[in-house]
Amino acid sequence: MRLDVTAIKSGYGKVTILHGVDFSALPGEITCVLGPNGAGKSTLMKTIAGQLPAIEGDITADGASIAGVGALRTCMLGIGYVPQGGNVFAELSVRDNLMASAQAFAGASGRIDEVHRRFPIFLERATQNASTLSGGERQTLAIAMALIAGPRVLLLDEPTAGLAPIFVDRIVDWVRELASGGMGVVWVVEQDPEKILAISKTTYVIKAGRTAEVLDSRSLLQPGRLEQVLLQADEGSAGPTRA
Ligand SMILES: Nc1ncnc2c1ncn2[C@@H]1O[C@H](COP(=O)(O)OP(=O)(O)O)[C@@H](O)[C@H]1O
Ligand SMILES: [Mg+2]
Repeated sequence: MRLDVTAIKSGYGKVTILHGVDFSALPGEITCVLGPNGAGKSTLMKTIAGQLPAIEGDITADGASIAGVGALRTCMLGIGYVPQGGNVFAELSVRDNLMASAQAFAGASGRIDEVHRRFPIFLERATQNASTLSGGERQTLAIAMALIAGPRVLLLDEPTAGLAPIFVDRIVDWVRELASGGMGVVWVVEQDPEKILAISKTTYVIKAGRTAEVLDSRSLLQPGRLEQVLLQADEGSAGPTRA
């Protein structure tokens, strides 16, 4: 599924954070979102996922407007979202976390089997509370929960932040397979983005609530380039403005 965001404005209550973001994600590609802290990357993901209303501008999925339809409808339309820091039900068992996200979606049980094949640990620890998992396992569970809904686009907000390299590699490999199967993947990058930039096509640089640059992701792997782009971007973090 193709996602297009056009001149979107969004924020919290009367505080506008996004002042006009343009962004697209194509099926079968990994699209990165990069920018300094506070630039509005997470706000953009929340807006696409329907958790924040767009004040102006449009969001389309395969050409049809989804702006204003809300989080549930957005999810039902095939847009999966894993918020920054992941989101699992800490006091539910691993099994119930997976089941919770399976309730509403046709074909979910096949996708749960797939998750178990790929991560047998979730079968082994099915009855343990999710709170007993390591950070990397919890983040993996959060992504699995989003995938069980059978999305055609997956939004991942800093999915590997703070994780051990083994989990970073696993999640990067997993996402590469999903994209080569045709899924669109949006990845908000954190520190050490080299692994994901290497397999991503396009990177959107968000600065102070606006799309500052659209770059070939691999060009950011040239020595010093990433630092340069981030430094330029650092000139402005969002700085909320009142409507
Ligand atoms: N729930 C919220 N209520 C009010 N302001 C918020 C909220 N969440 C984030 N912000 C503000 O929005 C701006 C952008 O935040 P965010 O989108 O999280 O940035 P990023 O993900 O790029 O670090 C920041 O100034 C932040 O303080
Ligand atoms: Mg963020």
